[in-house]
Amino acid sequence: MFEKVTAAPADPILGLTEEFRNDSRTDKINLGVGIYKNEAGETPILRCVKQAEQILLETEKTKNYLSIEGTAEYGQQVQILLFGADHEILASQRARTAQAPGGTGALRIGAEFLARQQIARKVWISNPTWVNHFQVFGAAGMETAEYRYYSPVTRGLDFDGMVADLSQAAPGDVVLLHGCCHNPTGIDPTLEQWETLAKLCADKQLLPFFDFAYQGFAKGVDEDAAGLRLFTRHHREMLVASSFSKNFGLYNERVGAFTLVTDSAQVAQVAFSQVKTTIRANYSNPPAHGAAVVTTVLKDPVLKAQWIDEVKEMRDRIWKMRELFVATLKAEGVSQDFSFMTEQNGMFSFSGLSKEQVARLKNEFGVYIVGSGRISVAGITQSNIGPLCQAIAKVL
Ligand code: LMR
Repeated sequence: MFEKVTAAPADPILGLTEEFRNDSRTDKINLGVGIYKNEAGETPILRCVKQAEQILLETEKTKNYLSIEGTAEYGQQVQILLFGADHEILASQRARTAQAPGGTGALRIGAEFLARQQIARKVWISNPTWVNHFQVFGAAGMETAEYRYYSPVTRGLDFDGMVADLSQAAPGDVVLLHGCCHNPTGIDPTLEQWETLAKLCADKQLLPFFDFAYQGFAKGVDEDAAGLRLFTRHHREMLVASSFSKNFGLYNERVGAFTLVTDSAQVAQVAFSQVKTTIRANYSNPPAHGAAVVTTVLKDPVLKAQWIDEVKEMRDRIWKMRELFVATLKAEGVSQDFSFMTEQNGMFSFSGLSKEQVARLKNEFGVYIVGSGRISVAGITQSNIGPLCQAIAKVL
């Protein structure tokens, strides 16, 4: 029966990690998958997370199932992070949040909810984007279309192209937006551009769906929500997929959230009942630990302040690595100007390296980056920067 199954191609990001693990070279460098590494090349557990886990170890009394949407406390903390504690959305209770297994789980819940309720058939996705977006929305039965986002000429946002393409969308279509730290380009709209996009989407009656996986990695936890908060002024309805993999370093706990913003508390109540049936049919109810850690940190002012510091620590180290990367390439004699990389936000940099150059980096030098030329700057350290830039100088 199973003989007829043909092999799937390796995942462009996680497949690369597998290949890296199987590579026996000791000087190999993994800048593929987006995970934060410290100067020692480790992905540490945040100090606030360790403290929260200690608290949970002592206070947790049961491993009973959570409800389908997870805990209300977690939902509230997620909404505070997204909209700010004083936002009218919280007071009016017109948003509902479900705990989800990672940002991917949150996207899938949202996509399935939209498809099953026949709210929308088509989702507009940036070109380029995180490769898994197509699979997630496709698996939920949604049609995908692309809008221009990146200009290889300016190495910046193709804002005119983006606006022109989104102007072609039909009323009711969904627009997937990266809340901040666009994956893979690291290029975000300015506040002025967010405003134009929010108005355009409102005029065209498009439904915004924010993928918000890097809150805190561009300018700050609150600052990075500026685009999303600006949208709330023009849109009564939207969807948000949050992830705490990166900003809490809780990668393998799979902790994320799906938030549905509606026009009223009453609509939210009814619509959310269908979000719950979607969840029940997928994984019944969410895993508890990661969300309990996030809740414990966010509801304690001291732990929350510590978390904000630790996010800053990660963000600052990545900024330093961007600058060092540009300077070291120059010192290695590379004539092309890579200073655009210091304009990009978050973990990733769209380097402009070709597929052939990416393949040579892997085969000849053991340097792993994603085929699109996306480099995870979060994996660069003082000790691998030398060999990394020497290898890039050679393939250029
Ligand atoms: C990435 O883009 O590297 C991360 O979001 C990890 C993943 O699941 O692909």
